[in-house]
Amino acid sequence: MKIIASPIEMQRYAENARREGATIAFVPTMGFLHEGHLTLMREGRARASILASSLFVNPTQFAPNEDFSRYPRNFARDCELMETVPVDVLFAPEPTAMYPAGSQSWVEATEVTRGLCGDHRPGHFRGVTTVVAKLFNIVKPHFALFGEKDFQQLRAIQRMVVDLNFDLEIVPVATVRERDGLAMSSRNAYLSPEERQRALAISRALKAARQCFDEGARYTAQLACAARYVLERTPGLEIEYIEAVDAETLAPLKALDRPVVVAIAARVGATRLIDNMTFSPFSN
Ligand code: PAJ
Repeated sequence: MKIIASPIEMQRYAENARREGATIAFVPTMGFLHEGHLTLMREGRARASILASSLFVNPTQFAPNEDFSRYPRNFARDCELMETVPVDVLFAPEPTAMYPAGSQSWVEATEVTRGLCGDHRPGHFRGVTTVVAKLFNIVKPHFALFGEKDFQQLRAIQRMVVDLNFDLEIVPVATVRERDGLAMSSRNAYLSPEERQRALAISRALKAARQCFDEGARYTAQLACAARYVLERTPGLEIEYIEAVDAETLAPLKALDRPVVVAIAARVGATRLIDNMTFSPFSN
């Protein structure tokens, strides 16, 4: 695996590859890789002749009170895991290379980042869309893969790609879970064994919403209620939000007459976890 730290060097690599007729699939990450990341990479591997990934814990998407400095990091292990896919080229820049002194330009998807995590993490999605736009300009991919686990992030990036005419295809990938249902996340590393048990209530809450849907629910509030019932009965878990919204626009929605996403954010101890499930009234 080739490791590149310089944005200009990465651009030259991508230009040469494109000139020679290669196609580039790209999986951006913040590292501390797990099976979710590796699933995105394998999907990318199958779609293009070159698989690129990036490892950059992006400071601009963390608020001052968030976990930027203690975000889990293990560069050597991440490189080993990428070699198993295998990833062809890893872009791993320093923060000063991505945000040199004087940086002041931002990319923002507005409406789709209102509500859900957008309300609880001010500035977060602006940081995400800005760094992803920069990464697209540096890695020049034909395909970029993103997990449905971070559903609002996926929608914000899809919106940005359409609105700003990025010439690439976004490929969504379904959430990868542990055997017991917990959505994989680098932040799961923060959980004590007891907290990890409590965290299972989040995926159980989504299963309860699924059951409610399968039993014929007709309103989004019924799904949110079913999920809330499970979470409210879990001691030591603090609900940040539970919402059932339009799966395309993430706007509020009453009737279950088009695809809906039930999204949850909750704190277990000091750890903030998110998960979601989509429901399509047409596929049943
Ligand atoms: P990170 O949390 O490292 O996630 C990188 C990619 O892996 C994202 O597309 C995310 O949705 C996906 N992913 C994480 N857990 C997953 C799971 N359990 N199943 C499927 N996919 C999963 O998301 C980010 O980094 C950053 O915000 C980034 C896009 C790199 C911008 O800094």
